[in-house]
Amino acid sequence: MIPRPEQLRSTGRDAVLRPNSAIAADPELHGVARFLRRSLQAGTGWELPFADTGDIRLRLADDLGPEGYRLTASPDGVEIAAATPAGAFYGVQTLRLLLPPETLRAAPVRVPDSLAVPGLEIVDAPRFRWRGQHMDVSRHFMPLPWLKRLVDLLALHKLNTLHLHLTDDQGWRLQIDRYPRLTEVGAWRRESPLGYYSEGIQDGRPHGGFYAKDDMRELVAYAAERFVTVVPEIELPGHSQAQIAAYPELGNTDDTVEPWTSWGINDHIVNPEESTVQFYKDVLDEVLEVFPSRYIHIGGDEAPKTEWRASERAQELMRERGLANEEELQSWFVTQIGAYLESKGRIMVGWDEILEGGLAPGAVVMSWRGEEGGVAAASAGHDVIIGPEAFVYLDYYQAPSDSGEPLAIHPEKYTDLAKVYAYEPLPAALTEEQRGHVLGSQGQLWTEYVATPEHAEYMLFPRLCAIAEV
Ligand code: ACM
Repeated sequence: MIPRPEQLRSTGRDAVLRPNSAIAADPELHGVARFLRRSLQAGTGWELPFADTGDIRLRLADDLGPEGYRLTASPDGVEIAAATPAGAFYGVQTLRLLLPPETLRAAPVRVPDSLAVPGLEIVDAPRFRWRGQHMDVSRHFMPLPWLKRLVDLLALHKLNTLHLHLTDDQGWRLQIDRYPRLTEVGAWRRESPLGYYSEGIQDGRPHGGFYAKDDMRELVAYAAERFVTVVPEIELPGHSQAQIAAYPELGNTDDTVEPWTSWGINDHIVNPEESTVQFYKDVLDEVLEVFPSRYIHIGGDEAPKTEWRASERAQELMRERGLANEEELQSWFVTQIGAYLESKGRIMVGWDEILEGGLAPGAVVMSWRGEEGGVAAASAGHDVIIGPEAFVYLDYYQAPSDSGEPLAIHPEKYTDLAKVYAYEPLPAALTEEQRGHVLGSQGQLWTEYVATPEHAEYMLFPRLCAIAEV
């Protein structure tokens, strides 16, 4: 069972479930009970009745942490106790994993007369609050049904966060009613690199797609039933060529641009005008309507300051605002957005570059260039998510690049399963108290070189199992 439960002991004798076994649940756990019934029905054909007393009992108990549970299987039946619906849900997922694997199928391959649940007592709880996977749907659009499958897979591994990277230079993927050109123009690129972008060969094939707001509402609701939070990311001020292609007034120059047809880091970043800040506030208003997540990611990484240095207007704005340099200008920009999100009851998350030029009050830092950014932010009292590229970037090769693996980023390095498995997300440099600021960790899957769901799964698994274990 992955992740391995914290405590597991034998009760000696199995529980036996039958087609007429009843499910009993405390009222707060009825939603979880319905999930269990639906899941078991899919894989066994059984339509288990609900009753006041049952062979499978879900009940509230206050001796278990916020996402913890205790599962006991014995001839008395299966009891799952938890302090919250999330805990009970993880108990249910454990029960599903204790049954034969074919019962996880979407329809029964045979209808069993009975199923034994091994006689065990399991007491389990996650180590971290934030257990996630990031998915870049900008570089390559991924279809909604597959995102729901990804949620199923996350939930089966007791992961609780899907971070969706919805915008980047090469594609804007979310319907925004107030700015229709973001998807009319920004969601479509003419072509993409064939092989490594540095080789300069293009495939000549258009690529694009976007999610209607109702697509994302469906995903959010589907994920919520599985205790997964969808955290949207809207990139600023860099990785924004698709926005600038749609609305050239967001740019720093008179150049007209198209959604980028190459990979890498791009000099086109948005300008630092008040009107641009307002554009993002308008966009975020619509994002917040769709995504109830407390945490909203605003990117902040890899924003070259070349255009701001060259722009008289950006320089003038810097002087007017009393800012010493372009890093402080980015910090000013990010701080405006952070304050706006805070006024709406949300918390801003950004990649560790948001430390440069001064960290916005209350910002959560996602440390990717190593753990140093996370250490600096946690030391300053900010919450952090530690996700260094060398350990949890699942777009990296999983074996040496000359070993027959499909083309992946950075052929000079690789991250194999053992390396992910051995990863320790709590930086040694933090004191006990500062460690309390580490919310958790997550895998990242950038998709420059990952064009299909099948390839995405190849990169995610089994390394995401190791992240779940971590
Ligand atoms: C990143 O990998 N640029 C966050």
